[in-house]
Amino acid sequence: MIGAGWVGFIQGNVFADEGRKVSFVDVDQDKLRLLKAGHCPFYEKDLEPMFRRSYESGRLSFTDDLKQAVEQTDGAFICVPTPPQADGDSDLSYVERVVREVAVAAGTREYPLIVKSTIPADRFRDLEKIVKDTPGSQVDLGSNPEFLAEGTAVEDCQLPSRIVIGVRNGGATRGFLEELYEHHRSGGTPFFVMSPEEAIMVKYAANVMLPVKISMANEVALLSEQLGCNARTILNAMGADPRIGPKFLHPGPGYGGDCFPKDTQGYDAMAKRLGITSNLAQAAIRTNARQRWHLFNRLTDYFSRRQETLAGREIAVWGLSFKKDTNDLRHSPAIAFIDQMLDAGGRVTAYDPAAGPEGRKRYADRIAIVDSAMAAVMGAEALVIVTDWKQFVGQDWEEVRKVMKHPVIFDGRSLLNPMRMAALGFDYISIGRPDALGAK
Ligand code: UGA
Repeated sequence: MIGAGWVGFIQGNVFADEGRKVSFVDVDQDKLRLLKAGHCPFYEKDLEPMFRRSYESGRLSFTDDLKQAVEQTDGAFICVPTPPQADGDSDLSYVERVVREVAVAAGTREYPLIVKSTIPADRFRDLEKIVKDTPGSQVDLGSNPEFLAEGTAVEDCQLPSRIVIGVRNGGATRGFLEELYEHHRSGGTPFFVMSPEEAIMVKYAANVMLPVKISMANEVALLSEQLGCNARTILNAMGADPRIGPKFLHPGPGYGGDCFPKDTQGYDAMAKRLGITSNLAQAAIRTNARQRWHLFNRLTDYFSRRQETLAGREIAVWGLSFKKDTNDLRHSPAIAFIDQMLDAGGRVTAYDPAAGPEGRKRYADRIAIVDSAMAAVMGAEALVIVTDWKQFVGQDWEEVRKVMKHPVIFDGRSLLNPMRMAALGFDYISIGRPDALGAK
């Protein structure tokens, strides 16, 4: 696995758990030191015990020596980052460097090299050209996109919804991947073989389709607020149509994470290069940018109706990560909200079940990050729920009501029951549902 980042590390550990020997190649010396000492670098459900098993049985190795790793293995996956550039296009310099180095390291050996990093479909040929320009190289490039979601990544690898491989005819990669995934194939997992460009497009189009779906839900939520309707009622009934389906129809503070924001931009940039305007990717990007202001706007409206501003106000924030069950802050709507709040002069005390340390690294002492949900609401003039952690639901709400200075809840994930919250004396405002105002 070339690149022991989140994708490479998790997929590599699943391969090792299936009994294979896996070599992780990375340039980050600090990470290599930690890995060699047996430290699991990522927070992900079920990962740590799986890593421990393989580590202790000696199936894992860690190195910065790519040449040696290539010499000792039957094939490699490229899992290095493809960060977005200012114009939305992906920076492929890491991937290109790996292809160049592997092409040299493999000499004249037929060697499968599979791209897992998400790259634009029209750039695959550029990678093949690097191989072609390396004298004598028999590297066979393929594509095998990943469909892992954070929080369920181990399970997504172990029980994939589908396996997509992109290969050229006659190369070594097809056989290598078919053998690697044989147990899935024979177990009935849909297995698709296609060209590398088509395989990449499966991933890219899925990562535009899902943001479009979420954006639809978010737009219905905004309309529902104006109509005095409950968006959940509408979306549940809409999702009961099997052609639409109920998943990814939950309104919220906007989608985040490392994938959807990056891939919608990358797809849009690719479409432009191909002379096509991607109306859909652009609509998702625009809708999401607007949605990321929605919670903040609801707070501003609420306080301005009371002739108050946000400056100096004590705001409790539950959730820092971009979704539940991860400590990942990348493009997190919670971070967007906190930044908006700080710019407006608000004072933030935040709690997250997993991402506290990452939050402290990001904000230092600009916000307070506490170790319990209850500590965050002490003396708060508003509670804002941004991340959908399950444990936020089962709080002692009477106690929360008692310790807050002003009892208003802005629920970005519609986790709570509006009538119940109002009956407890809260003003309760959620996305896409009528406000429920508590008795004063
Ligand atoms: C996403 C895809 O779901 C994976 O299939 C894909 O492999 C991965 O990107 C990737 O490209 O590597 P992930 O970013 O981990 O996975 O998270 P999701 O569960 O898809 O959630 C993304 C964002 O959408 C989160 O901020 C989440 O809260 C938000 N979301 C999701 C909604 O606002 N509403 C929904 O109904 C669903």
